[in-house]
Amino acid sequence: MPSPDSPPLSRPFRRAGSELGSRAESISSPPYTGRRQSLISDARKEREAGGGREEASGEGREEEGGSAVPGGGARATLTLLCALRGGRGLSRAIKVFETFEAHVLHVESRRSRRDAGGPGGAAAGWGLELLVRCEARACDVTALVGALRRVAEHVRTGREDKGPWFPRKLQELDRCNHLVTKFEPELDHDHPGFTDPAYKQRRREIADIAFAYKTGELIPRVHYTQEEIATWGEVYRKLAGLYPTHACKEHVDAFRLLEQHCGYSEDAIPQLEDVSTFLLERTGFQLRPAAGLLSARDFLASLAFRVFQCTQYIRHASSPMHSPEPDCCHELLGHVPMLADSTFAQFSQNIGLASLGASDEDIEKLATLYWFTVEFGLCKQEGHVKAYGAGLLSSFGELMFALSGEPEYRAFEAEAAALQPYQDQTYQPVYFVSDSLEDAKDKLRQYAQGLRRPVALRFDPITRSVHALDSTRSLRTAVDALQEQVSVLSCALSRMA
Ligand SMILES: [Fe+2]
Repeated sequence: MPSPDSPPLSRPFRRAGSELGSRAESISSPPYTGRRQSLISDARKEREAGGGREEASGEGREEEGGSAVPGGGARATLTLLCALRGGRGLSRAIKVFETFEAHVLHVESRRSRRDAGGPGGAAAGWGLELLVRCEARACDVTALVGALRRVAEHVRTGREDKGPWFPRKLQELDRCNHLVTKFEPELDHDHPGFTDPAYKQRRREIADIAFAYKTGELIPRVHYTQEEIATWGEVYRKLAGLYPTHACKEHVDAFRLLEQHCGYSEDAIPQLEDVSTFLLERTGFQLRPAAGLLSARDFLASLAFRVFQCTQYIRHASSPMHSPEPDCCHELLGHVPMLADSTFAQFSQNIGLASLGASDEDIEKLATLYWFTVEFGLCKQEGHVKAYGAGLLSSFGELMFALSGEPEYRAFEAEAAALQPYQDQTYQPVYFVSDSLEDAKDKLRQYAQGLRRPVALRFDPITRSVHALDSTRSLRTAVDALQEQVSVLSCALSRMA
């Protein structure tokens, strides 16, 4: 655990927007109260930490293929092409990879073109050319290539610097739980629960659920106290009264369904397992309990697998209209209804997919995009501006302010939003307005395509895993899956015709 004053070891990610204004706020003049820690500043700290992520976490993650990276030692992926010498050329080349403990990812061999009459080719005894893709310690790359040149000819190499680790399958989200504790009630003097030992103990009990949780398990239920339910009820009543006029249609529709089928009411705090089941049936999204603030990279990575990391505790009873950190009011009232919409769900997953393997600089830009869309996004609907961002939909004060006509509205452009300075001390002076959720999704996709990524990735919804599109075989598999879908659509169209 980092100390409060230490650099961010695990970069904090605060799903902002839990602030609901003060008790005294009125509809005509909703003041902002409290400080807000944003995921953008968290991502910025991560970038400024300069790639010390694995070292900071103190736990080398297992890399693809199972080779550990003790202390976060850098790895490099190499593509090598060489011509083997004589009969023992292959065994000598293999020995080189063994010596440097290189992890061979892919091998191809072919008859050397030099056999076909190249100058001196056949005479020199070159029979085979070898293509090898392997992973090795970055510090060994030069020596490895040099050793290979001693046993083979015409060695050519291309190096891919290995980017940050990212999960490849759903189960690996069990490792995406890097937390920051700096703003928890245990450490933050300004937290409403800082002087309340009973509240701190309650938080620890609920956090233990998240610490123990593994992918595939049912989310344990929390037996909320009457005081906690009363806090929820106060927030619920106030916000539910605003949704018909201020929330986008997708939120209003889903909120109604949640009340009908998922136990949403002011009298009970919904259980994450029930909400997760509801979302899974609607859009394939699932909830996963989170103990607190997550790193931006870990949180965004979860979205790539249609998993939303969700806090289960509730804010302190003394401050029902404000929380300095995300809590179940923010998650269940702001985020969950939007995740029940298929377009928004795809939008959220696309941000997550764009984050996998991205540089720290791009993570910061994606976090900023997340801020101005998923948290504070507005959209046009039937001639009116409506809110779809969870930070607004869980904040009575800012929801009123955002649609008051007072702040500046800008048409949503992903490139601009990714660089827009944000406000974490008061309401946003600028909001981005999309023509529609579909419009926001399309612009985000175009933006993501422009990011420099180590490899193109494809999400497989059947296995809930991501695959690199870096070989003819992987491309063929993707095309086959696409052809299956096209075939189904073609059949359906034929029937309709
Ligand atoms: Fe949030």
